[in-house]
Amino acid sequence: MFCGKVFGLVVLATGVVSAPAKRQAPSGVPDYVLKYAPVVYLHGQDPYFPSDLNTHLSHITPKVNFNGVSAPNPLGLNNLDQLGGDVYLTSNDDVTTNPAWIKGVRPDSNGKTEGTTAVVIVNDKGNGNVDAFYMYFYTYNWGGEVLGLRSLNFGNHVGDWEHTMVRFSNGQPQYVWYSQHANGQAFKYSTTEKHTDNLRPIAYSANGSHANYAIDGTHDHTIPNFNLPGGVLEDKTAKNIFWDPLLSSLFYRFDAPSNSFTAYDGKSPVNWLNFMGHWGDQEYPTSDKRQVKIFGQAKFSSGPTGPRDKQLGRNNVCPDNGKVCILRSILVPRNAEVDAQLFADDVVQR
Ligand SMILES: *[C@@H]1O[C@H](CO)[C@@H](O)[C@H](O)[C@H]1NC(C)=O
Repeated sequence: MFCGKVFGLVVLATGVVSAPAKRQAPSGVPDYVLKYAPVVYLHGQDPYFPSDLNTHLSHITPKVNFNGVSAPNPLGLNNLDQLGGDVYLTSNDDVTTNPAWIKGVRPDSNGKTEGTTAVVIVNDKGNGNVDAFYMYFYTYNWGGEVLGLRSLNFGNHVGDWEHTMVRFSNGQPQYVWYSQHANGQAFKYSTTEKHTDNLRPIAYSANGSHANYAIDGTHDHTIPNFNLPGGVLEDKTAKNIFWDPLLSSLFYRFDAPSNSFTAYDGKSPVNWLNFMGHWGDQEYPTSDKRQVKIFGQAKFSSGPTGPRDKQLGRNNVCPDNGKVCILRSILVPRNAEVDAQLFADDVVQR
């Protein structure tokens, strides 16, 4: 009896230690896509955590030019593509009142968020060339403040899709892409900072904007088509809150020739990936009292389009956006000056 008790305790103890908080990845997902999946550190002052897709959909109304359109009811991941590409999934609440649902889900002590807050999309191009996209969803993006001034807060929006991408060759990770606003940064896999397992690259999610960086600290942040001098608008990252997106992901294959998706488990909804519209409110007009527009920059901008719009069939590690694609060999703080610089072991894709 005594032995039994001890044995029971041991079983309980090992059970606790080894019980994985993992949502089981479906069979068929390549092992290396899981093994080298980036982990994310969220900023401790960021009130806007990753969000469950279904929760998001239960608090929005599909609108075009601020008018409701006919839509399936209830709206879900199974029927979202019945909506047109001109649709904005518009918040039912005034987001300036900070309703609880826009703050998403705080990861637990294992880094797990309840619900589906991420998606893994694998593009197998053949001959051992595989791009794995790790897509992160947040309901709200806080755009930051120019010169740290509250009155110069731009680029807030409902709906925020960010991603990292790992490019594999024969199961070996080669390069990692970090999305940042309209562009991002690429690094050699060997250059990236790793998780405690020495395998998974770390992505730092910036306070509010959720742009992904390879290091913690302060990063110059540019607004597309708005040439701000370096340093006036900054993204801040910090190793504060651990998030393991794999624990709340759905897993899909992307077939580039047919531009189509399939779920690895054969049952996760696929339909929503074909929705071409926007995941948040349309940019408010200046007649809306929440809106402020200075130098053409809006305090509230339109929500983004979804994962299929991230160039899943890209050739280079970077999406094709007219900029040189530097595959960096050293981790440097992001500022405008260093960003334009090339280092000896960097690879450049044009
Ligand atoms: C983080 O973002 C919040 C707004 O969402 C802001 O109030 C806070 O000052 C930011 N923290 C830093 C360090 O920038």
